Amino acid sequence: MSEQIVKAEHLVKRIGGITAVDGVSFSIEPGQIFGYLGPNGAGKTTTISILSTYLPATSGDALVGGFSVRREPLKVKEIIGVVPQEIALYPTLTAMQNLRFCGKMYNLQGSMLDGRCREMLELVKLWERRDSRIEEFSGGMKRRINLAAGMLHRPRFLLLDEPTVGIDPQSRERIFDTIFKIRDDGTTVLYTSHYMEEVELLCDHIAIMDRGKIIAAGTLKDLLKMLGEGGMIELEVSPPGCASGLEEAISRLEDVTGARREENRLFISSVSSARTLAPVMKLVEAGGCEVSSLELYSPNLEKLFIHLTGKELRE
Ligand SMILES: Nc1ncnc2c1ncn2[C@@H]1O[C@H](COP(=O)(O)OP(=O)(O)O)[C@@H](O)[C@H]1O
Ligand SMILES: [Mg+2]
Repeated sequence: MSEQIVKAEHLVKRIGGITAVDGVSFSIEPGQIFGYLGPNGAGKTTTISILSTYLPATSGDALVGGFSVRREPLKVKEIIGVVPQEIALYPTLTAMQNLRFCGKMYNLQGSMLDGRCREMLELVKLWERRDSRIEEFSGGMKRRINLAAGMLHRPRFLLLDEPTVGIDPQSRERIFDTIFKIRDDGTTVLYTSHYMEEVELLCDHIAIMDRGKIIAAGTLKDLLKMLGEGGMIELEVSPPGCASGLEEAISRLEDVTGARREENRLFISSVSSARTLAPVMKLVEAGGCEVSSLELYSPNLEKLFIHLTGKELRE
């Protein structure tokens, strides 16, 4: 097995009275797009700050490219690129001037610097706009320049902190294309987001975070299996009280892998929703219930998050 790009072990970060990161362990293999998913305040940015050596961990350590963030921060800095959640660009300078400025901080100069700036602007599809000032750009364009700036020095490992918040669909697509492209060129990516559809689409491996802890991790397939292999059925029934005890009868049906009730709502996971629907309806009717709403869906990360935490991922 090739050496891991990240091996985080029991990372803890206390800030003031808050434990922002509360014993987080995970590893990322080379070439992965690793999704770090969680609601606002989960501890995603704090984790990125520790991995990129901007913040010291209260306890625990992480190896990045084999180097300890605690003991060898300069080595870690050499191999990483960070695209921060807050856009870090000079509004009155042009796109090109901003990139040249960033490139110099990475000790790039001369034709090497010019070449890299052009390459990155082409990659994010903003080469034509190189001489426009940042303040004239849309939010999505600024995010793309921000991304280009983080990749100028060709990092082996790129950390992206919510790179698509508040942007237009076209810029989002360009950012996704860019991420796939650099992954194909050998860069490992940590992708942080609170948008589960993005993580479903982009990421090979996923860790779901809530309140400083990783509450589930694995491939998308592994994670969705936690909701049952097949589909989910969600039913709302009336009159009030009629559903009491129905979940037990439903959970004994063939193919059903789980049934849960919250007042008048039933949540059923099944190997096959198609086969399960008819017998469920029969039980519901026999119980004197009428169906007021019915939803069938495939498992997804949003549903998994609700299942694990009892709350919605979106704010
Ligand atoms: N500098 C800080 N001072 C006080 N609290 C902070 C600071 N940075 C982060 N926190 C707190 O730590 C928790 C995790 O924050 P953060 O890592 O930014 O979450 P996320 O990026 O997932 O939204 C939150 O409760 C946040 O309020
Ligand atoms: Mg954040």
